[in-house]
Amino acid sequence: MSSKILSAAVIGLEAELIEVEADTSSGPLGFFSIVGLPDTAVSESRERVRSAIKNSELKFPKVKVTVNLAPADLRKQGPSYDLPIAISILKATNKIVVKQALSECLFVGELALDGQVRPVNGILSIALMAQKKKIKTLFVPVKNAGEANLVKGLDVFAINNLTELVEHLEGKKILKPATPCEFDFSNVEILFDMAHIKGQEHVKRAMEIAAAGAHNMLMSGPPGSGKTLIARTMPSILPDLTLEEALELTKIYSIAGQLPADTALVTSRPFRSPHHTASGVALVGGGTWPRPGEISLAHRGVLFLDEFAEFPRQILENLRQPLEDGVIHVSRAAGNLNFPAKFILIAASNPCPCGFFGDNEKNCTCSQLQISNYKKKISGPILDRIDLHIEVPRVKFDKLTSISDSENSQSIKKRIQQARKIQQKRFADLPFITNSEMSSEIVKKFCQLDNVSVNLMRNAVEQMHLSARAYFRILKLARTIADLAGIEKILTSHIAEALQYRPKE
Ligand SMILES: Nc1ncnc2c1ncn2[C@@H]1O[C@H](COP(=O)(O)OP(=O)(O)O)[C@@H](O)[C@H]1O
Ligand SMILES: [Mg+2]
Repeated sequence: MSSKILSAAVIGLEAELIEVEADTSSGPLGFFSIVGLPDTAVSESRERVRSAIKNSELKFPKVKVTVNLAPADLRKQGPSYDLPIAISILKATNKIVVKQALSECLFVGELALDGQVRPVNGILSIALMAQKKKIKTLFVPVKNAGEANLVKGLDVFAINNLTELVEHLEGKKILKPATPCEFDFSNVEILFDMAHIKGQEHVKRAMEIAAAGAHNMLMSGPPGSGKTLIARTMPSILPDLTLEEALELTKIYSIAGQLPADTALVTSRPFRSPHHTASGVALVGGGTWPRPGEISLAHRGVLFLDEFAEFPRQILENLRQPLEDGVIHVSRAAGNLNFPAKFILIAASNPCPCGFFGDNEKNCTCSQLQISNYKKKISGPILDRIDLHIEVPRVKFDKLTSISDSENSQSIKKRIQQARKIQQKRFADLPFITNSEMSSEIVKKFCQLDNVSVNLMRNAVEQMHLSARAYFRILKLARTIADLAGIEKILTSHIAEALQYRPKE
């Protein structure tokens, strides 16, 4: 007797259909093997499945059992095949009598030795694949049910343990499909509000532009001037996530195993702040079983690199390609994988080793050589990809101790949401969401300048020795500045402001 049960493998961000076939034949009693390129976690499945079946008051068959995971050329990883393996063995050996057709059912879940079903990673990708393949019913661990239910048109059954699933399949105790939950994207917890930052109006303005058009920003200033504090206010002014963005993010978090317990959907924009000692793989992703790194976990949110100059140069160089393309290519034995990585880079750095170069009151104790070596730590091509270069001076005592609050984040966020709406309309038929994602061709279409502005740009390119990349980046930035003002045509003043954010020589 043999039986076929559907399950799924997650490769990169996508899932693929896997057939789990159990076959019984004559041979040593109790012999149990798994074939079809299993990794160690899948091979260990034998022990978990055997114990889970025994401890669920079912009998493990006293025959030779071979389980094949097809297609055989695809590597199988992780413990999520436990549940389909258990069901296919029980069915093939007639230990259970299944009352329904299983050809349109998909099973995923890890089994504990006592038969409880444990959550697994990548459920959203699996559910989206099931929808595409017209599979109607999903049996998933109870903790993953909310995530699976994000996909429309599926019957999702939340399974606590093997006994419960068997009773349902045998028609003894029918379960009800889980009900989908509602989500609120505007309910973002605000830890740091712009209202609490004294002075630094020009820095706040730059933050507003960065948030509105998803532009990258570098803050440079002495220690204690508030760079870290200001960066941490970014989540409070970022626009609410849309459902599409939330689904995209949830896929990434689920595969990385970073979706918090009892969270079905990522509902707020990420703010990731990896330390400068983080490894290259942790930052950009990769590994034997490629996982998304910090830059993908920051997708559609913020990647905050504090003490920017302390990051090893080689690691920063890895950011060049994703900063340009919004996606990271990770190579693995079987080919290349892509993880999305459209993040706003917010970097903060001291201007020199002692931190006081350019300070009005405190003298810098570094030598010229030390200062220039410090600046060289961040490569030119990386600086070229940063649109907003901002100096953050120390705030004067009187301003710091003044009791008047500045504009709060909620009111700044309203302007940003408005500017994003304009962009949404502009890019309705294009694969972009924000101005910063425009290709050079598209820039030509949406960032047309009048003669005065063209001359201003010509002079700037010549005098500031701007690269072609910098030229297009300035136009995109000016587009965002115009959008924040609610003006259709880019004005000379918008270009002038955008130019002001280029790095000073
Ligand atoms: N403009 C400001 N308004 C209010 N508090 C500030 C401001 N600048 C600095 N601070 C205070 O100083 C502390 C140190 O700032 P921090 O952001 O760590 O500086 P940096 O990262 O530039 O070294 C902050 O926690 C905050 O309490
Ligand atoms: Mg700091």
